[in-house]
Amino acid sequence: MSKGLFITFEGIDGSGKSTQARLLATLMRDYGNDVRHTREPGGSAGAEDIRRLLVEGDPARWSPETEILLFTAARRDHLERTILPALEAGQIVVSDRFADSTRVYQGVARADLRKTVDTLHELMIGREPDLTFIIDMDPEVALQRGLARNSGEDRFEDMGLQFQKDLRAGFLGLAAQFPERCMLINGNQSPANVSGEIQAVIETWQA
Ligand code: TMP
Repeated sequence: MSKGLFITFEGIDGSGKSTQARLLATLMRDYGNDVRHTREPGGSAGAEDIRRLLVEGDPARWSPETEILLFTAARRDHLERTILPALEAGQIVVSDRFADSTRVYQGVARADLRKTVDTLHELMIGREPDLTFIIDMDPEVALQRGLARNSGEDRFEDMGLQFQKDLRAGFLGLAAQFPERCMLINGNQSPANVSGEIQAVIETWQA
């Protein structure tokens, strides 16, 4: 049995979740916790290699089915080598994305493949976060923000605005499906205010 705490951040591209994951990791360290801040796809050497295959290049580079396999392969390595050892050591793991991203990106927005995603998750991952923050954000504003970064990792942003709108609907559906662990946070406000809302949840949730 794992002893640590597993917290994830989810949201559409450009929602500000990476900033918030970083801020929460810092806050938890300031509280005196041992924190492992990580991300998906990635978070282990092998998974970072797979990340490059997934986030760069032509949007049509992979089918949704192949994407599910690649994201799950990356997640399995991340889980084995980073997340589970950290939890076993009693650390707080803060991950920028996890399985909810596959449920929404590949299971809802790219195609109607949620059952396939769930089956593979059960077979290969079998672990849920203890707490998930879903940063909800206006898709138009978020997409402009995401593309303005020119990160070279725009494969999913290049799928367009309707795709981001479908993602937002998918994340709202997920928050309704898992209300006990998914906290919906309004991302249409300053990063400091978003962070304040997250801190308030953490303080009451830990109590
Ligand atoms: P990032 O921009 O948050 O680092 O994530 C990389 C991209 O990969 C982002 O556009 C979301 C996408 N993604 C999926 O489509 N499925 C997944 O399971 C994960 C973890 C990410």
